[in-house]
Amino acid sequence: MENPYLTGNQGPADVETTAYDLEITGALPHELDGRYLRIGPNAIGDMDPVHYHPFMASGMVHGLRLRDGQAQWYRNRWVRVPSVSGQLGEVPVLGATTAAHDTANTHVIRHAGKLMAVSEAGALPVVLDEQLATVSYNDFEGKLPHGYAAHSKRDPNTGELFAVTYSAAENGGQLVVVGADGAVTGVERIEIDDKPMIHDTALTANHVVIYDLPVTFNPDAAKLGFYPYVWQQGRRSRIGLMPRYGTNADIRWFEIEPCFVYHTANAYEDGDRVVLEAFRHERVFDSAWWKPLEVAPALWRWTFDLKAGTVHSEQIDDLAGEFPRIDERRIGAEHRYSYGVALHHGEVGNLAGRGIAKHDRVAKTTQVHDFGPSRFAGEAVFIPRANDSAEDDGWLMSLVHDGERDRTDLVVLDAGTLSAEPVAVVHLPVRVPAGFHGEWFPTQD
Ligand SMILES: [Fe+2]
Repeated sequence: MENPYLTGNQGPADVETTAYDLEITGALPHELDGRYLRIGPNAIGDMDPVHYHPFMASGMVHGLRLRDGQAQWYRNRWVRVPSVSGQLGEVPVLGATTAAHDTANTHVIRHAGKLMAVSEAGALPVVLDEQLATVSYNDFEGKLPHGYAAHSKRDPNTGELFAVTYSAAENGGQLVVVGADGAVTGVERIEIDDKPMIHDTALTANHVVIYDLPVTFNPDAAKLGFYPYVWQQGRRSRIGLMPRYGTNADIRWFEIEPCFVYHTANAYEDGDRVVLEAFRHERVFDSAWWKPLEVAPALWRWTFDLKAGTVHSEQIDDLAGEFPRIDERRIGAEHRYSYGVALHHGEVGNLAGRGIAKHDRVAKTTQVHDFGPSRFAGEAVFIPRANDSAEDDGWLMSLVHDGERDRTDLVVLDAGTLSAEPVAVVHLPVRVPAGFHGEWFPTQD
């Protein structure tokens, strides 16, 4: 069997590179002073193509340091969980862990001054330094019942970080609240009678969104060494609204048509209603255990009427896409714009797409910056021009692989116009394999 995640640009990088003073086409805005980091799966050593799955793979983080209109360096580093140190023949950086799932390959976040590579399903965050070297686990002073989450939402006003965590070790999940100072302030059980995969959440002024969808832990798949979360035909799909500081008893559950959601665009409250927008998948991990994308996903809206106890579902865009991002100053408030990856039709198994889409909820338009047939873009992160600039006044940053050159560029687009001409393109001397999520970390004073 040929495993699609071990070939082409979905296959792993096999060396760590450090490169300085990268070539730039166009002009990097001087406001961009910081690091763009993006992480993804990156197998190390010989992989069995029958069992390899990117969601379980070792993580590799890629980073660029931008400053004064220059791209000062590019680095890629494996996150040195013990198995990676062993494969590399190095003295382990990290101590022993009881984590159910020991990898960090899905997202990079910074909270309370700690830069962390994060995954879900029982994995502990791994703290990285500014040059992407592995430093330590962050077990949040032992306060997490299991690991942390790949996705969390930061309240732009309070700085609190909200996440829904889960692990194969226990049914259901937990709502974990971390204060702006990095200390855990709340852990609440979420009672569910099996073990769903909960990849993301959403935050509104008063609620946290819980996805209880029919991709659940299958012990037989785990025993056989396959990715253990699979589609469970006939299981209910529901979305829960949990008060930010509530308990399991306070969750209001709303049944929806069967589907799966990896990623939220945003959620907000509108009087007695909660509005949630996310990319909806008809099904995943169904026809084959290795298929995280089966049918082209699209942007949907669920409107929950808290008074009537009803939910209204509607597709709001027909573009095949994924990896939605917004201006994160709008998390939990009504947003106008979201940005996603426009997928190549017929290549729904790919972790990258043909372009970057801008969805405008007011004009009801979708604009696509198309990179062309041989170029594949990853998730685009929105960076505001200044702290007080308007919602789409800033840039989008994405790693784009050029299949003809087998090299990757960091492409900076004007988010306001999505103009065909990028603001700047930073040329990397290597390819960056298709990956998961990234973030822009401005230089801290
Ligand atoms: Fe994700």
